[in-house]
Amino acid sequence: MTLAQKYENEAGKLTGISPSVSPGSVAWRSPSNIALIKYWGKRDFQLPQNPSLSFVLEESFTETSVEYRYRGNNGNTGSGNLKVDFMFEGQPNFVFDLRINAFLQKVAEFLPFISHFEFKIESRNSFPHSSGIASSASAMSSLALCLVSIEKDLFGTLKNDKDFFTKASFIARLGSGSAARSVYGDWSVWGKNKLIRGSTDEAAVNVNNELKPVFKSLADAILIVDSGKKEVSSSQGHKTMDGHPFASARYRQARENLEKLINAMVIGDEQSFISVVENEALSLHAMMISGNVGYSLLKEATWNIIGRIREFRMKSGLFLAFTLDAGPNVHLLYQLKDAEAIKPFIFSELLSLCENKHWIDDRIGKGPERLF
Ligand code: PMV
Repeated sequence: MTLAQKYENEAGKLTGISPSVSPGSVAWRSPSNIALIKYWGKRDFQLPQNPSLSFVLEESFTETSVEYRYRGNNGNTGSGNLKVDFMFEGQPNFVFDLRINAFLQKVAEFLPFISHFEFKIESRNSFPHSSGIASSASAMSSLALCLVSIEKDLFGTLKNDKDFFTKASFIARLGSGSAARSVYGDWSVWGKNKLIRGSTDEAAVNVNNELKPVFKSLADAILIVDSGKKEVSSSQGHKTMDGHPFASARYRQARENLEKLINAMVIGDEQSFISVVENEALSLHAMMISGNVGYSLLKEATWNIIGRIREFRMKSGLFLAFTLDAGPNVHLLYQLKDAEAIKPFIFSELLSLCENKHWIDDRIGKGPERLF
């Protein structure tokens, strides 16, 4: 049975609400994540064409609070008729409002109590809105965690952590694919693959136990080359993989890279880690360039930063690698213990290539936290 079938079957039990139920509230802080094996290309509803692997950030997160109040069961329900008041950083936001409404309508299939309540949702990010950090993973995972907590609080379900976070990941995925990987601390894999037992396309799983400690204490210097809105969104980008001439080779490459990377992280092979991570970053952008219609989100400064990172690695012999999200900003990964050697390099050689010398000093994070 798929997770979707399981949650659909269980949905019938999530409707019997006593009209005297008290209003309640819940809030979660949930991180953004950076993928090292990239999800690029989807099938059906938010299912990935290949497995992906990421770690969550510590400093880059969204806090979402949800207040809920019973509004009755007599004719005004149904997922097409939701009552949601949404504020982003204290202001109404029309674009986000539409996205949240569409998300709630979708997830009402698995959380049918949603249509019996009215909601007041407030959300804020730890990072500036236009900082080039993708906020959909942290935004959608924090909201998913709130909704699943409401289920738990109202119906006494999901008592076991594994059940709770699997459902949170499943629900988050329906809002934004990469959000599925933001409900856990440290490293997660989303997408069925041979190496990770229990892996599935429907939700992410946490994969910390087997990894060598060096990979559990990575710093991530996020070098902001351009904080503006992307010219082509990720959802448009995923679509360019449908009918892309290199699609099947790319999905095979991602699977092979996942195996290589996990093996490297289990045995502590830093050289293989670097070569896979950088190959994934550039392959993602190669797909954008070679699609129909091709485009590039990379800027001259992106290439210059990459060149300087590679040169500094050669000279210093230190462990450092770059990765890229779907945008021009560079994530420079290194070990926290090497910060004293690497920070002067960032300051003297990289910041002059960043927009207003802007960077975010981040690292692998502990994962989401329930605030109340
Ligand atoms: O979750 P989406 O639809 O925003 O897509 C994310 C795509 C990448 O960030 C480029 C890669 C990834 O796996 O996070």
